[in-house]
Amino acid sequence: MRSFLLILITTIITTACSNPKKDIINTEQDYQIIPKPVKLEIMNGRFMIDSNTTIAAEKSLENEAIYLAEILSSVANIEILFRPGNGNGKIVLKRDASIANDEGYTLSVAYNKIIISGKTAKGVFYGIQSLRQLMPAGIETEKNDVTKISIPAVLIEDSPRYTYRGMHLDVARHFFPVEFIKKYIDLIAMHKMNTFHWHLTEDQGWRIEIKKYPKLTEVGAWRNGTIIGHHPGTGNDEKKYGGFYTQDEIKGIVKYATERHITVIPEIELPGHSAAAIAAYPFLSCFPKEKTIIYDDMGSKKGKQIQAKGTPKIVQETWGVMDDVFCAGNEDTFAFLEDVLDEVIALFPSQYIHIGGDECPKGNWNRCPSCQERIQKQGLKDEHELQSYFIQRMEKYLNKKGKKIIGWDEILEGGLAPNATVMSWRGTKGGVEAAKQHHDVIMTPGHSVYFDHYQDENKDNEPLAIGGLTTVKDVYSYEPTPIGLSAEEQKFVLGSQANVWSEYMKTTDYVEYMILPRMTALSEIVWTPKDAKNWEDFDARLQHMAERYDAMGLNYAKHNIIKK
Ligand code: ACM
Ligand code: ZN
Repeated sequence: MRSFLLILITTIITTACSNPKKDIINTEQDYQIIPKPVKLEIMNGRFMIDSNTTIAAEKSLENEAIYLAEILSSVANIEILFRPGNGNGKIVLKRDASIANDEGYTLSVAYNKIIISGKTAKGVFYGIQSLRQLMPAGIETEKNDVTKISIPAVLIEDSPRYTYRGMHLDVARHFFPVEFIKKYIDLIAMHKMNTFHWHLTEDQGWRIEIKKYPKLTEVGAWRNGTIIGHHPGTGNDEKKYGGFYTQDEIKGIVKYATERHITVIPEIELPGHSAAAIAAYPFLSCFPKEKTIIYDDMGSKKGKQIQAKGTPKIVQETWGVMDDVFCAGNEDTFAFLEDVLDEVIALFPSQYIHIGGDECPKGNWNRCPSCQERIQKQGLKDEHELQSYFIQRMEKYLNKKGKKIIGWDEILEGGLAPNATVMSWRGTKGGVEAAKQHHDVIMTPGHSVYFDHYQDENKDNEPLAIGGLTTVKDVYSYEPTPIGLSAEEQKFVLGSQANVWSEYMKTTDYVEYMILPRMTALSEIVWTPKDAKNWEDFDARLQHMAERYDAMGLNYAKHNIIKK
């Protein structure tokens, strides 16, 4: 796409005709959109895009008009112009208050005119994504040789099934550069998904600059080695590894996502998965002087233990669940977290902050005098209620700042924080329980939407993964609204998200391989009406989507792709 287009936002007068094609008979083959639209009516004729094509849009849709102009102008030798105002461009973007769904749109392509209407700019943006998929895959290549685009005539009325359609990415186990995060956001947008859950902190690395606590990135963003091979591994590579995003970079990414109608939800893990923060600021631990233990064998915990060298606390070098967590008895822990969250809130306009809450062992709290004193003073029953106290306290703080929390389903244990949204990952049970308590729920069950799982039964054919097996067909077979909920309770299921944990994803190519085409399947699950789901039909459209992946230079799993 060409950035010089920005300077073309100017009023021009075009009267030339765009070589219309009225009488061409189109067939289903011409319409290969994923996710499948709610209603698609095939029409005859084709709209030709050429150098006379112009886009007209009202001021509030300028962002969308520029986005579309850039897509269309990626065709060789064509510069498509955007005309501000409701004038008579050949492509018109407009808002239509009669469309019921906030994210809904209509797309009308006739031989001589294209109209995209949305209730909101977001709806118009999704209409543009459908239009994009009606064009040849070749337009996705930056320096392509497509000289003419013809778009089949159509009438589409479309809106999503769920309001939450997300992709998660763990940038802590492995770190991915800003350019890749933008590519990931572009993929989310292409699939009409609307949320990027950015997992920014972990035992193995702290990835977000916090100005008040510089050691979080000076120390916490770097580990001195990584286990080799599948956990428990065959050794440690002893290589320094890490990286982090500056606040300026984060602002740039949030802006980029906002322009693509994607909400970025940051995750700051607490009280567990906090070894990197503890390495930077040992006072956060129940036992600041105890050395970090790096287990070679987390399964039995009887394996070789490598004690941290020199300093008592180091950033973790292996995967799993660590005992050293934030102390729940020390007031300084809460002051630290509130300071961190203040800076996070200032960076992310999202209504939600994800506070983690998963996999927090209670052993340290059990032997920590401060934590035990907190249990006594607060009249708590046990360490599970202490975890609930921790989460509820963070929720209260964030609610006061106008934010809502999301937590993994462990936050149900010991009592759910009053306004929390639950992310159900250990199957669907947590989601059902939370919805029955009338809490919002996002379904991310491991069996269907953990994209760190293998994609083929024969693991020898696959790059190393964490385990499990989730094929693209398994994803497509997933039904996000769990059984066992009344019609009223079902309304609390906001949608679904795939989780992409990066223990074994060392490169961006590998991430692409693990998400594609599984995220393409998920996009249809969260958008298209349940009754319209059809595996054979999806599989046929997927073949065309693969051509688009190829044109975009993406690495993807080919188990379901039949090459012509
Ligand atoms: C998780 O997968 N530990 C949320
Ligand atoms: Zn403690």
